[in-house]
Amino acid sequence: MDKLKQLMKEYRERVDNALDYWLPTKKITPDTLHKAMRYSTFNGGKRIRPILVYMAGEALGSNMDNLDAAASAVECIHAYSLIHDDLPAMDDDDLRRGKPTCHKAFDEATAILAGDALQALAFHILAVDQAIDISAEVRLEMVNLLAGASGSRGMVGGQAIDLESVGKTIEIAELENMHIHKTGALIRCSVLLGALCAENITPQQRMALDHYAKCIGLAFQIQDDILDVESTEEELGKPIGSDIDADKPTYPSLLGIDESKQLAAELIQDAIDSLAELDDRADPLRWLAEYIITRKN
Ligand code: IPE
Ligand code: IPE
Ligand code: MG
Ligand code: MG
Ligand code: MG
Repeated sequence: MDKLKQLMKEYRERVDNALDYWLPTKKITPDTLHKAMRYSTFNGGKRIRPILVYMAGEALGSNMDNLDAAASAVECIHAYSLIHDDLPAMDDDDLRRGKPTCHKAFDEATAILAGDALQALAFHILAVDQAIDISAEVRLEMVNLLAGASGSRGMVGGQAIDLESVGKTIEIAELENMHIHKTGALIRCSVLLGALCAENITPQQRMALDHYAKCIGLAFQIQDDILDVESTEEELGKPIGSDIDADKPTYPSLLGIDESKQLAAELIQDAIDSLAELDDRADPLRWLAEYIITRKN
């Protein structure tokens, strides 16, 4: 799908430029901290969450300048979540995006602080970005959405359930709950933030995009679990078998690989179906949904 590839590249470059503007350089003290923040942000991520912000916004006719702040903010939260996820106290992984993880390249304390600072930066960007042409009320709603998706009722809550589940046999409903939170929440939030930047979004459009986002969010983590079993370290850029080694419940461990793939495919179809009322400006969202379960890294 060349069109999708091209679009993803454009959006990736766009958010990279915005992030480059917002992240302090290593010339500013504390230089090691700023170096670590940049190291873990500019290291080859797929930028799926910013891409979702752009695609959801464009599907509803938002202009691009409106979307940069939300795109940058969700990637800052994501980058922070990965730094902390890799820490010895959490998944204890040494490789991320094909390079040593933040605590390996720097040290644990620096990695913790780099994550903390990236989290704060996300909210700073949403609060002060001057290019956003929306009401203060909507901006506040965006801040609140991102806070909810990131906190104990969102991503961090999912990470807590993940750690509590180590070595346990859990039901599929509990696993779904964990995935919906640790990964789904921020993906859902990315789509909604993009949608909110468009003027006059209808309740129906919001519901359609929200359903789309929930489905792809869960499918995204199911695919992540599958790749942990089926991919290679070279292709994935992170260690393989990390979940099995850590004795974590995953979709493949509960349902097997084939059934996991089947479920992910059904979720993607459900996501695409939910966009039926949106015009062809939503095609990139349809293509991206397919990409989520065909991606190799
Ligand atoms: C990895 O996310 C962690 C999960 C939430 C599954 P991505 O697969 O989006 O990682 P990058 O940003 O492309 O490295
Ligand atoms: C990560 O889930 C979810 C986050 C919030 C970072 P994983 O622990 O499976 O992500 P990877 O496989 O390390 O990227
Ligand atoms: Mg983890
Ligand atoms: Mg991990
Ligand atoms: Mg994983």
